[in-house]
Amino acid sequence: MKQQIIEQTETYVRSELGEDATGHDWYHVDRVRRNALHICIQEKAGDPFVIEMAALLHDISDEKLNESAAKGEVKLDTFLKTISLTSEQVDHIKQIIASISYKGGRQTELISDEAKIVQDADRLDAIGAIGIARAFAYGGKKGQPIYDPAINVREEMTYEDYRNGKSSSINHFYEKLLKLEGLLNTDTAKRLAESRQKIMEDFLLQFSQEWNGQLL
Ligand code: ADP
Ligand code: NI
Repeated sequence: MKQQIIEQTETYVRSELGEDATGHDWYHVDRVRRNALHICIQEKAGDPFVIEMAALLHDISDEKLNESAAKGEVKLDTFLKTISLTSEQVDHIKQIIASISYKGGRQTELISDEAKIVQDADRLDAIGAIGIARAFAYGGKKGQPIYDPAINVREEMTYEDYRNGKSSSINHFYEKLLKLEGLLNTDTAKRLAESRQKIMEDFLLQFSQEWNGQLL
């Protein structure tokens, strides 16, 4: 029964996100699901079914992929009503998804192990080699520069700044990506983040050396 629900959810998510090129494609969702289940097993924490469902659905209601946050929520609700879940499971899945976003995650204490694990899995996919690729894919799609020396590295940018593209993809590492390692919840994710952090740091160093002609 659970396997059938997972397969139904996979089919739905594939059809909703398949064409997205901003870094929220099906393969991102699949990696988040696999990372989350790995963390769940290693930490011996959380309900694997709820974790897998929340991971699969975590980007469906994202404001960036919907006309509005409200419309995104309706979309998620509508799908959740079509599958056989208990109302506790539905509430938990929705609560995890609402609490894991970077915005939400900064402000609210995560209440469940499942939320902590799915948030870690999503954050792991934003760093490392894949994180580098996703940042430039997203930046390109938004028409923001790869790097612009005129844009100061600013610690705090508002969500509106992001949305209006007043940044550069290199700047995004300083605004967000380099900070994610320190925000992880589980020891398993912290271990996985080490090599991912290193490749980002090495990349940024090499990038600035090439930019400044220091390797000539
Ligand atoms: P998530 O999958 O965690 O919901 P986001 O929606 O915040 O991630 O972003 C999707 C991807 O796009 C991530 O890899 C993120 O680093 C990248 N991204 C988001 N905002 C920017 C930006 N302003 N510049 C470059 N990359 C960005
Ligand atoms: Ni995501």
